[in-house]
Amino acid sequence: MVGVIYTGLQKAPEGKTVSLEKMAEARVLVVGGGGREHAIVDALYRSPQVGKIFCAPGNAGIAQQAECVPIKDNDIDALLTFAKQYSIDLTVVGPEVPLSMGIVDAFTEEGLDIFGPSGEAALIEASKDFAKELMAKYGVPTASYRTFTDYGDALSYVKGQGSFPVVLKYDGLAAGKGVVIAENLEEADATLKDMLVEDAFGEGKVVIEEFLTGPEFSLMCFVAGDKVYPMEIAQDHKRAYEGDKGPNTGGMGAYSPVPLITDEDKEFAVHEIMEKVAAGMVSEGRPFYGVLYGGLMKTPAGVKVIEFNCRFGDPETEVVLPRLRSDIYDIFKAIARGEDPGEILWDGEQTLGFVLASKGYPGHYAKGFEITGLKEAAEDPDIIIYHMGTASKDEKILTGGGRVLMVVGKGGNLQEARDKASEAVGKITCGNLFHRSDIGWRVLGK
Ligand code: AMP
Ligand code: GLY
Repeated sequence: MVGVIYTGLQKAPEGKTVSLEKMAEARVLVVGGGGREHAIVDALYRSPQVGKIFCAPGNAGIAQQAECVPIKDNDIDALLTFAKQYSIDLTVVGPEVPLSMGIVDAFTEEGLDIFGPSGEAALIEASKDFAKELMAKYGVPTASYRTFTDYGDALSYVKGQGSFPVVLKYDGLAAGKGVVIAENLEEADATLKDMLVEDAFGEGKVVIEEFLTGPEFSLMCFVAGDKVYPMEIAQDHKRAYEGDKGPNTGGMGAYSPVPLITDEDKEFAVHEIMEKVAAGMVSEGRPFYGVLYGGLMKTPAGVKVIEFNCRFGDPETEVVLPRLRSDIYDIFKAIARGEDPGEILWDGEQTLGFVLASKGYPGHYAKGFEITGLKEAAEDPDIIIYHMGTASKDEKILTGGGRVLMVVGKGGNLQEARDKASEAVGKITCGNLFHRSDIGWRVLGK
């Protein structure tokens, strides 16, 4: 038993430490090691049924609630061996790569419960062309598109379109770097050369899409075959710098709910997008069990799909799961077994989180800088600090990735949540971190 100071939502009583092992029975393995996995671990920790959490590989923050296991998230054989050896009752997979590699199929074959889609169902994220075809076939609103394998054909098509910007998407997994919005022919040409001639991401296809406009939002749903259980809506901020400037990143901050998105928008998105896709996946013989993430845009012509992911979003999960009132272990377990998870309850509070990233991210950055003030920042019960990329050395917490921390504030409204998170960020010191201070800004009319 290891005593730890608990810094998540579920605070330990004043001055006490809590134990990593509780009296409850269930043993859970979480695969991944970022902020999303920290939020999943945090939610599982709140379940009275969960006794012990392992996380592979985890990070320094996750280590406060789970035992970190030094296995890479894509080492399926080692994860399977571990799950059997340690009598794991449920495995929950965070990232898309092991899902696409078929981790769920490997565990299911061995009779182990695992939460996430099969490799065949994960194709909805792994192939943009597959996702677009599926949407076309089942009448799901999205940007018009064509797919190309030949550089010359693709370039002629772009020339024929005659208008810019045009959206170019590499067909496979590209760690968020496979989408280019080309403003002119030169840029489109260079990108197509990169993707189809130089094979920058590997040999593959390119989807060329109509450019849509409007606010983006993320709707994550628990999905079990044709049944869809929507979560609360969140909004990510993908560009690196304030005012939506700079390169695309994995996400620099998020908040939930999103006042700009009405109940009608959400209804439409659930029925006309998520449910149609879930039913379509069943009809295609690739039934989806897990979290289906819709990256959606509220365009002047209605809500349309920008992309699908086969997993929880990061950093959306960090602002959505703290609002979950149901027991996440029940939800994961039911869906892993193909059963109905029942009604899922959320609180009415507002969350907003700032990502603290290493200077230079999403480009080159250095690691190993000490972070101080975390304990003070997390003293407020309305603050949760999720670790995205940290390591520990001699009791010190060090930066260990591009995105390092997600500081989430909770409040009755956006301003309150933002002020809390902002104050907490101000207490954290480190020589090599930056953040966008304009998360939720536009909504607040600033
Ligand atoms: P994705 O990786 O597909 O989410 O694309 C990354 C970002 O590119 C999205 O968050 C959008 O901001 C932008 N994007 C992708 N597709 C389109 C589109 N068809 N029209 C406008 N922007 C897009
Ligand atoms: N935040 C976007 C993603 O998880 O892909």
